[in-house]
Amino acid sequence: MTKKTPPKNFANKSSKKRTTREKSEHVKSAKGRKTSSTKWLKRQLNDPYVAKAQMDGYRGRAAYKLLEIDEKLNLLEPDMLVVDLGCAPGGWCQVAANKGCQVIGLDILEVDPLPGVTFLEMDFNDEDAPDKLIAAMDGQKADIVLSDMAPNTIGHKNTDHLRIMMLVELAYDFAKDVLKPEGTFLAKTRQGGTSNDILTMMKKDFKTVKHVKPPSSRKESAETFVIAQGFRG
Ligand SMILES: C[S@@+](CC[C@H](N)C(=O)[O-])C[C@H]1O[C@@H](n2cnc3c(N)ncnc32)[C@H](O)[C@@H]1O
Repeated sequence: MTKKTPPKNFANKSSKKRTTREKSEHVKSAKGRKTSSTKWLKRQLNDPYVAKAQMDGYRGRAAYKLLEIDEKLNLLEPDMLVVDLGCAPGGWCQVAANKGCQVIGLDILEVDPLPGVTFLEMDFNDEDAPDKLIAAMDGQKADIVLSDMAPNTIGHKNTDHLRIMMLVELAYDFAKDVLKPEGTFLAKTRQGGTSNDILTMMKKDFKTVKHVKPPSSRKESAETFVIAQGFRG
């Protein structure tokens, strides 16, 4: 009797060996768990960057976004002062601190301590947030202001867009106050998102302004990053 071979790309269910491609985790929808949470869990379990972050000792997959942007644009150098807005759980802080930067991170959420990093637990929308950050900078100007702040989305495209843009604008105003000449501003925004007004302002205040979407930023996500370099001071 001739043995039937399965066609190419056909997952042989009886086979105990699974190839890497087939090795995706299946997540059953538990009673009471929302479909969106099930999808999130499935995505987390099957995301190579999540596994890599665990192996590399990073606090989250977000770390790779800054690593990849830095690899491309060489932003981080030892002894730079970096302000990281929306820093929890601390992946970007780890990347900058590993490069020898002095880091000040701020988030609404509490962040576990990291060597070389000062954390402020507060809402960046609070009136006194800029002053608290400036006090932590101890009379120095910043080389880089990062913002990965992301408000919780509510699923209403225009509202979500406006909420992230408000944070980008707030972070930008702060950056202009604290950056050294030639400094850099990097902020998360949404595709088709950075308003013309703020882009026009950035192009006046910085030598170069562009958008980058690092490979670790999920293709299906509208997130992208605006980067302004060469602050005119
Ligand atoms: C995508 S996470 C940042 C991940 C971080 N870059 C990392 O590598 O670990 C976005 C963060 O922005 C914070 N955030 C959102 N709105 C904020 C606000 N108004 N003030 C401070 N933090 C805020 C959230 O609490 C969340 O921790």
